[in-house]
Amino acid sequence: MNIKEYENKHRNRIIISVLVFTFIIYNYFVYSSGTENLAPKLSKDAISGQILWQENNCWTCHQLYGLGGYLGPDLTNIMSNPVKGENYVKGFINSGVKSMPKFNFTEEEKDQIVAFLRAVDKTGYFPDYKANLQPNGWVEINYKSADSTNYLP
Ligand code: HEC
Repeated sequence: MNIKEYENKHRNRIIISVLVFTFIIYNYFVYSSGTENLAPKLSKDAISGQILWQENNCWTCHQLYGLGGYLGPDLTNIMSNPVKGENYVKGFINSGVKSMPKFNFTEEEKDQIVAFLRAVDKTGYFPDYKANLQPNGWVEINYKSADSTNYLP
């Protein structure tokens, strides 16, 4: 290996090291910034409600934020819907409708599902018509409250 080849090899190593290092720093910022407070704080009831939601497969027919099955409607904002809300949800659970089965939940379990849906509702809007697309491609979400990470009742 002559001097020239040796220099090239050395230079390539430096370039690759710099790129790898920059990649690591970049990833650190991408994956660590802005994520600190995003873990939802659900009440005990809401957590039980979420377990019921999952165990009874509500999500195979319903969506939250557009994600889930599509046989039934999206339930993200059902609790704050002025003509729906708690009794409406409980009514559907009690009696079922069309392809939706009727569920034999206790009053406590129904309250827990309602607590879960209420917590989900507090997190935002779906569809979020007021979300803004910024020129850099970032989406500015229209949150429901200033403290959007506190979902406790
Ligand atoms: C097999 C599919 C299926 C499952 C499982 C299911 N649903 Fe439904 N659900 C439906 C369908 C379909 C409708 C719409 C009926 C209609 O509008 O006529 C509906 C409607 C509803 C509504 C009324 C929505 C609205 O905006 O009018 C609520 C609330 C609801 N379901 C809650 C639940 C909950 C809670 C669970 C789980 C415990 C659940 N559903 C499980 C199919 C399902």
